[in-house]
Formats: sequence, structure tokens, C-alpha cells
Amino acid sequence: MWGASAAISRLLAEWGWVGQVCRRLRGRCVLPRRWVDTGIMRYLGIGTAKKISKIGLGTWQFGSRDWGYGDQYAGQVARAIVRRALELGITLFDTAEIYGFGRSERILGQALGEDRERVFLATKILPVLPVAPVVEQRAVASADRLGARSLDLYQVHQPNPLIRDGTIMRGMRALQRVGLVGEVGVSNYSLGRWRAAEDALGSPVLSNQVRYSLVARSPERDLLPYALERGRVVLAYSPLAQGLLSGRYGPDNRPANRVRAANPLFLPANLERAADLLAALREVAEAHSATPAQIALAWVIRHPAVAAIPGASSVGQLEHNAAAADIDLTDGQYQALAAAAARFRPLTGPAAIPRLARARLGR
Ligand SMILES: NC(=O)c1ccc[n+]([C@@H]2O[C@H](COP(=O)([O-])OP(=O)(O)OC[C@H]3O[C@@H](n4cnc5c(N)ncnc54)[C@H](OP(=O)(O)O)[C@@H]3O)[C@@H](O)[C@H]2O)c1
Repeated sequence: MWGASAAISRLLAEWGWVGQVCRRLRGRCVLPRRWVDTGIMRYLGIGTAKKISKIGLGTWQFGSRDWGYGDQYAGQVARAIVRRALELGITLFDTAEIYGFGRSERILGQALGEDRERVFLATKILPVLPVAPVVEQRAVASADRLGARSLDLYQVHQPNPLIRDGTIMRGMRALQRVGLVGEVGVSNYSLGRWRAAEDALGSPVLSNQVRYSLVARSPERDLLPYALERGRVVLAYSPLAQGLLSGRYGPDNRPANRVRAANPLFLPANLERAADLLAALREVAEAHSATPAQIALAWVIRHPAVAAIPGASSVGQLEHNAAAADIDLTDGQYQALAAAAARFRPLTGPAAIPRLARARLGR
């Protein structure tokens, strides 16, 4: 089914007029949206040198054993995903030195080829030893693996709990000065620490990459208002809650891989509790001839300061995700989804730990 729909999408992309007609008939188009390759990507309205697409591509999956997509995925599918993303106007590509211990950066760099210069390439440093010379050396190594002359966005993957950001930002400043790094970003930072990082850098830290989705809404408290007010960006990771919001999984159909085995959202009890939210997503999806995953993405990127970086396990998924940029939710739909999300109360924290252990043992 996915394969057939991807082939049809490609055909429709070549028949540009079909997309045109369908766009004109938005909401009344006779073709299901998932077959329509709209080609309309949207971009953040901030003044970066290169455009940043509202839907990007996350590449943790590339070369990662924990996602378990296998050798064919790492060797061929990942490349096809990147090439298709370029065709669909995606400019934001996110990776990290730690993903697959450098494999993700290598796969992404090779897949982009010469096109890497025209995209907004983002990678991350794990700040284990966040002193300036190490930061500089890590950036050079990442650029090397990516085959890139420079990194458009260099992000601190997580706040170092012991060392404040003065030293790491000294390294970032030096990298910006020599032109190896364009923008500096952070990830998993509180607002207080984001601002402190800006003070340490002495200039804007463009983005904070955080978990943000219908089931992870804490960035709404302070990060989103800050980003909007200051022209900063929130990069939403796990915008599909690692596939939960696709509606593909349930208590009797749980995903099997290490990443999701460790994620309490995929406990049978939580999959049961998610039924109401998934029903709300399906209802809105129906109204847009879209899929629940597309609606979940459209919900996240509705905020002007947000770009999302969903991962994809196939070209078909990537195509759907890209097309979500063109879905306009009504205020009513947006609020209905927010209300359904607020009613979702998953088991988390200490209460979830014994169940996670049991679920991993298959009991
Ligand atoms: N900064 C950080 O600390 C951090 C942490 C996590 C992630 N990230 C970044 O964010 C990216 C995305 O986050 P994520 O991978 O955790 O979660 P995600 O994007 O919410 O979920 C990705 C998974 O959802 C499924 N999926 C994707 N598109 C779909 C579609 N259209 N329909 C149905 N299912 C679909 C696929 O899994 P199946 O097909 O197997 O179901 C895919 O692997 C990562 O690749 C990484 O770049 C950053």
C-alpha cells in the first residue's frame, strides 16, 4: 500500500497540473491528500541566510541500531528519503555526531552530495567535555563526515549538568568567527539556560530543539512565547511521538525496537489511553483527506516559530510528512485536538518503570 501510494505520489509530482488543480480545490479535491504531491513547502519567516522548511527531516534513524531498520534502510532507503526530501522543498536536515556514532552524518552527507550547500544543515555536539578546543575539533569532524564546508546550525545536544555554557560557547564563537558554523543552537534546554547560553555566546542562539508534539506540550509554557518574541526557533523533535500519533500502533500491535521499548508511551496501558486522542486525530484527518500523522504535524507547525523534524522509515512516510506543511487546520480543529491531548494522561515516571521492564520481557 505504502509503495503504491509513493509511486502514485511521484507520478502526480510529475503531472504538476494535477497538484495545481488540487491546491485550488483545497479541501474539495477528489484525490486523497496522501496521493497528492502538493510540492508546497512552507518556510519559517525569519531572516536566516538559507530558508528553513517548516517540515524538516530528522535522521537519528539513519544507521541507528536502536531503531532497527536494518542494512537496506541504512544503505538505500535513507538515501532515497533524503533525495525525495530535496525534491519536495525540504531544506532543514537534522543529525548529530552521536546518531549511529557518526553513521547518520555520513549517510546524510553522501545522500545530499553537492546539494548539501543549498540546504540548512544542522548537527549536534554531545557536550561531554565542553571546552573550546574540543568543541572546535568535534565541529571539524562532523563537517568532515557530512562532507560540508560549513555547518548551518551547530547545536549543543543537551545541557551539561555540571559545566555551565561559558566554555562551550567560547568554542562556538571561534567556530562562527572562522565561518565553520553559521548559527548556534541548543537542545533540551530550559528557557533560563537558553538565555544564559545567549549571554555566554554574546549573540542569539537561534534555536532550541526540544520534544514537542500533541503529547509533549511543555514548550508552550515559555519556549514558544520566547521564540516568537525574539525571532528564535523551536525545533520540534519526536513530533509524531515516535510514531504513536500515526495511529498505527495499539495495545495489541506494539512497535518492536529498542527506542520504543524504552518509551513509556508505548506501554499497552498508554496505548489504550491514547485511543481518544487518536480518534480525534482521525476525525480531523478525515476532513482533510489526510492521515493522523499529517494532522499531528500540521498541529505542531501551526505555531509560527516552530519547525518540525520528523524521522521517516520510508519514502512514502517522508512524502506524507512533507505534504503536512500545506495543511491548514481551522481554529476549531486546532482547539479540539489540544483538548483531546489535554485529556490524555499517560503513565509516566516511576509508575511506568516496572511496567516498562515487564513489557520488555514480553509479559
Ligand atoms: N535533540 C534530541 O535530543 C532529539 C531526541 C530525539 C529525536 N531527535 C531528532 O528528531 C527526529 C525525529 O524524532 P523521532 O525520530 O524521535 O520521532 P518522530 O519523528 O516523532 O517519529 C519517527 C517515526 O514515526 C514513524 N513515522 C514517521 N512518519 C510517519 C508517517 N507519515 N506515518 C506513519 N508513521 C510515521 C516512523 O516509525 P515507524 O514507521 O517504524 O512506525 C518514524 O521512524 C530524530 O530523527 C532526530 O533527528 C532529537
